[in-house]
Amino acid sequence: MSTTKHLIAPSVLAADFAKLYDDVQMVNRSEADWFHIDIMDGVFVPNISFGFPVMQAIAKHAKKPLDVHLMIVDPDRYLKTCKDSGAAVITVHYEACTHLHRTLAAIRELGCKAGVALNPHTPVNLLKDVLQDLDLVCLMSVNPGFGGQKFIEQTYSKIKELRTLAAGVNDRLLIEIDGGVGAGNAAALLEAGADVLVAGSSVFAAADPEEAVRQLKNVQAG
Ligand code: DX5
Ligand code: ZN
Repeated sequence: MSTTKHLIAPSVLAADFAKLYDDVQMVNRSEADWFHIDIMDGVFVPNISFGFPVMQAIAKHAKKPLDVHLMIVDPDRYLKTCKDSGAAVITVHYEACTHLHRTLAAIRELGCKAGVALNPHTPVNLLKDVLQDLDLVCLMSVNPGFGGQKFIEQTYSKIKELRTLAAGVNDRLLIEIDGGVGAGNAAALLEAGADVLVAGSSVFAAADPEEAVRQLKNVQAG
């Protein structure tokens, strides 16, 4: 599907946690559409970020929807807490769900949009039988766990393949790209068929983060 305008989701993982309130306000003021919230458990990924109490503190001040990326094993245990902590979108990892269909139904029953993230090595065609149940697919363009990594070029062909797979089956599916996204590849990602760009270090490490968001938001596919 092609949305009229793509969405920008700054990843709070790259914020300065000692001045998180200021960084939340920056995203509020900016042209960003969502807050991307990375929750890691140190088991599914080799890093621990922050948990639901921090997410709740963000939710208290955020004026835009929270797009929550759960990099945790057995995410079913935390879906309700995640919703109650302010999630609008809940994305679980394909690789972390034994009963993905059931997990997606549980997310929708909570009233959240349901997403699935795929690690770089996971083929998009594995989603064929759950495409109708999805609001969003997050294609990881780095191995999850850390910000500031190099974008994996193979992602472009995965976007195109997923768009083809979803055509006529789920034309409202949002394709989100997460990892190594910035001004240098945003246009090409949109051209390939991306709808949502997650950006961590390219926004928060920029001299002017609001301007970095503005540039990503106003980039044209091509
Ligand atoms: C990585 C996280 C990403 C990360 C992106 O595991 O899922 O959301 O914050 O950071 P950048 O944009 O710096 O690659
Ligand atoms: Zn993420």
